[in-house]
Amino acid sequence: MNAAKAGFAALGVMVCIGYQGAKAEPMPWDDLPPGKGRELTYASCSGCHSMMLVQQQGLSREAWEDTLDWMVAEQGMPEPPPVLREQILDYLAQVFSPERPYFTPDPDGPGSVDRP
Ligand code: HEC
Repeated sequence: MNAAKAGFAALGVMVCIGYQGAKAEPMPWDDLPPGKGRELTYASCSGCHSMMLVQQQGLSREAWEDTLDWMVAEQGMPEPPPVLREQILDYLAQVFSPERPYFTPDPDGPGSVDRP
């Protein structure tokens, strides 16, 4: 992270803290990394299980496609229309990619275990 980005992140944190009081209530998807498709993904996936189950994965787009197909075929997820399916997959592949840009492992938590 370069200095400008770090400054930006710090500013973001301060703005968030500053607004905490004024904000009516935090949105349930606020814990997910920002990106296009975040709310849609939350709405599509959180009905059946915690988003933790999703967040702890670091998958390629192909693997996310397989996961989504599996949710539809075996777990009873309604098939999303193609346009929305693309948005969900774009979001998942961007923020929960194998590089795991948002992953901050808790040294004692289950997330600390290296996945294959
Ligand atoms: C209709 C219910 C339902 C919906 C909607 C749903 N899931 Fe699931 N999902 C399940 C169930 C049930 C399991 C547990 C399956 C098992 O472990 O046998 C699961 C498990 C998972 C897992 C864990 C897989 C693993 O290897 O442990 C991931 C990742 C996942 N879901 C992702 C998603 C994503 C992403 C979405 C939204 C696009 C989604 N799910 C929507 C029912 C659902």
